[in-house]
Amino acid sequence: MEIIRTKQRLADVVDDARRQGRSIGLVPTMGALHAGHRSLVERARKENDVVIVSVFVNPTQFNNPDDLRTYPRTEEADAAMLEACGVDYAFIPSVEEVYPEPDTRVFDLGPVAEVMEGAMRPGHFNGVAQIVSKLFALTKPTRAYFGEKDFQQIAVIRRMVELEGFDLEIVPCPIVREADGLALSSRNVRLSPEARAIAPKIHYILELSRDLKAAGKQAAEVQQATLDAINDVEGLEAEYYQIVDAATMQPISRWEDAGELGAAGCVTVFCGGVRLIDNIRY
Ligand code: PAF
Repeated sequence: MEIIRTKQRLADVVDDARRQGRSIGLVPTMGALHAGHRSLVERARKENDVVIVSVFVNPTQFNNPDDLRTYPRTEEADAAMLEACGVDYAFIPSVEEVYPEPDTRVFDLGPVAEVMEGAMRPGHFNGVAQIVSKLFALTKPTRAYFGEKDFQQIAVIRRMVELEGFDLEIVPCPIVREADGLALSSRNVRLSPEARAIAPKIHYILELSRDLKAAGKQAAEVQQATLDAINDVEGLEAEYYQIVDAATMQPISRWEDAGELGAAGCVTVFCGGVRLIDNIRY
């Protein structure tokens, strides 16, 4: 595996691969890699001739400077994991290499980016669109892989792809969980032992919400009951729990209002001061 630090070197290997007609799989990450990332990389490895993984903590998507400062950075371990997964190129650039000057682009992401994470973290999705569009332009991937834990992010990236006219396939990959149900996240390392013990209840409560639907409750009732159940757990505080159309991300109050992808329930919970996100499909 080669570690690439510059856009020029990346452009050269991408041009070579494309000239040879080889497919390129891109896995964009912010590092602090875990088994969730590994599942994306392994899938990319199976489906493409060349695999590129980017490791870059993108400052423009952090609306909270403390979150950016304390975001885990584990480059050596990341590189070792990627090498072991058979990755061809790890693109690990500096901030100056990616943003030689400030990126002032504002994407018209529309309603998909206005709710939930978009409402709670102003500017976050525009920052995601900035970095992912740069990565797509640089790596010209055939396929790009994203984890469904960031469910809304995938919808936002699809919108950006449509706006920018990129010709590639977005491949959503299932959430990977700990044995007790906690969704893997780079932020989990920040959980204290007490918070770590409580955190799996988030997934447990989301699973129970499916039973409410099966028992005939409408989406709005399931939403409220789920929110209440999370907030009833000492140590958990929900920022939002929203049942949405799984394609448009727009809130629904009746199941029959969901389109062909069905409904999803998306949650953000503070657990011992750590902001965790998760979701479930109905
Ligand atoms: O999901 C992430 O880790 C990031 O938002 C991404 C897609 C790598 C962009 O920085």
